[in-house]
Amino acid sequence: MAISPSRIAAFECLLAIDGKKAYSADALATAESSLGEKDRGLCHEIVLGSLRRQIYLDRLITKFAGAKKLDLAVRVALRIGIYQLLFLDRIPAFSAINESVELVRRAKKASATGFANAILRRITREGLELVFDDDIDRISVETSHPRWLIERWIVEFGSERAIELAQANNAEPPLAFRRTARTTNVDLDEVGRPSRYVPGCRLGTGDSRRLMELERAGVIYFQDESSQLVAAAAVANTGGSTLDVCAAPGSKTGMIRMSGRDLIVAGDLTDMRLATLRSNLERQGTQGITLCRYDAAAGLPFADNTFDVVIVDAPCSGTGTIRHNPEIRYNLTNEDFVRHSSKQLKIALNASKALKKGGRMIYSTCSIERIENEDVIAGLLAERPDLVVTRPEVNERFITEEGFARTFPDRDDMDGFFIAQLTRSD
Ligand SMILES: C[S@@+](CC[C@H](N)C(=O)[O-])C[C@H]1O[C@@H](n2cnc3c(N)ncnc32)[C@H](O)[C@@H]1O
Repeated sequence: MAISPSRIAAFECLLAIDGKKAYSADALATAESSLGEKDRGLCHEIVLGSLRRQIYLDRLITKFAGAKKLDLAVRVALRIGIYQLLFLDRIPAFSAINESVELVRRAKKASATGFANAILRRITREGLELVFDDDIDRISVETSHPRWLIERWIVEFGSERAIELAQANNAEPPLAFRRTARTTNVDLDEVGRPSRYVPGCRLGTGDSRRLMELERAGVIYFQDESSQLVAAAAVANTGGSTLDVCAAPGSKTGMIRMSGRDLIVAGDLTDMRLATLRSNLERQGTQGITLCRYDAAAGLPFADNTFDVVIVDAPCSGTGTIRHNPEIRYNLTNEDFVRHSSKQLKIALNASKALKKGGRMIYSTCSIERIENEDVIAGLLAERPDLVVTRPEVNERFITEEGFARTFPDRDDMDGFFIAQLTRSD
């Protein structure tokens, strides 16, 4: 039996994401470039849907298969099949089952085809009730977040909030976008409504295919509302020379340039990241930015006291972007937060040296973890008493008690970002 291109592509993507720790966005971009529109849609839905429910799907597999150790290809084929059976109304059960069984055969696991077929048929006939060890196990399975992460968020945000965050992480995010620097007479009112919080940001309405066309034509740039909020805070208040320390792929750099800044220096760690930054700025029609390669954790190649505005959009765990990148939750460990935090502090300290007296520094991450945010700023202030926390230029609803800004997927329907603004006293 032939397998549809969408399911083969989804299978290959999920194998790469689980087996080789590929990012879903990269795996999907590669797979979807060779698919027609209809197959692209189904592949996208199967990959992101299965990732968003992976722990639940695996618990069902264990219920029906017992503790038997499964080859990854067989497990992925089963996840794809069960996901379609339980969550995609328009897929007939026989297609979901037969094509998953064929995926097992195609992966040269012919001896497991009977087993896969039996499990998938039992799923359609038998009760799906699961037994949980305790409440946290139930939340972990029902929201498909690892138990340790739920426990961590319960400590950090309380039980109710931890559940809401985990649930929001499984929702399809709005398609947020903005204009690029290219001149066009396309009326964006037809494709998106204005954001309430970020001037120039729009949230897609209606047909996403039209948005994709506009994106391919370089007219619009997809960027989550929260990421646009950070760039808007960076360009508020003062102008002048600007350094974007961790710039690739250049979403915020492009916005900063569009605000009319003349002198912008943007840098990143590797040649590969700089190549991504360069081509992404070109796609946005953005010119006049000086690019620079450096290891900002080791030191920056600028004299002290050089820039009016310094932006540190630091490398982080990305726990605020799990809606867009569902696999993040399966690849993290508690140690990663500690590692990120220590690197973030080094980068922030080095970046602060390049800031002029009276200048502003914006520190941001797309992590919701305190250790990567407030704790890094506390470490920075301990070393740099000449820096003062000032209120970032964003809507009041995002301002925290400590004077920073935060966005959350559950509260704001945006990715989770942290923004600190620090002003250097004269
Ligand atoms: C969160 S991303 C920045 C996103 C970017 N500001 C944007 O809006 O498109 C963090 C960036 O920091 C870079 N990075 C990581 N370690 C670095 C280092 N030691 N020095 C400079 N850049 C680094 C990564 O390569 C990555 O591109």
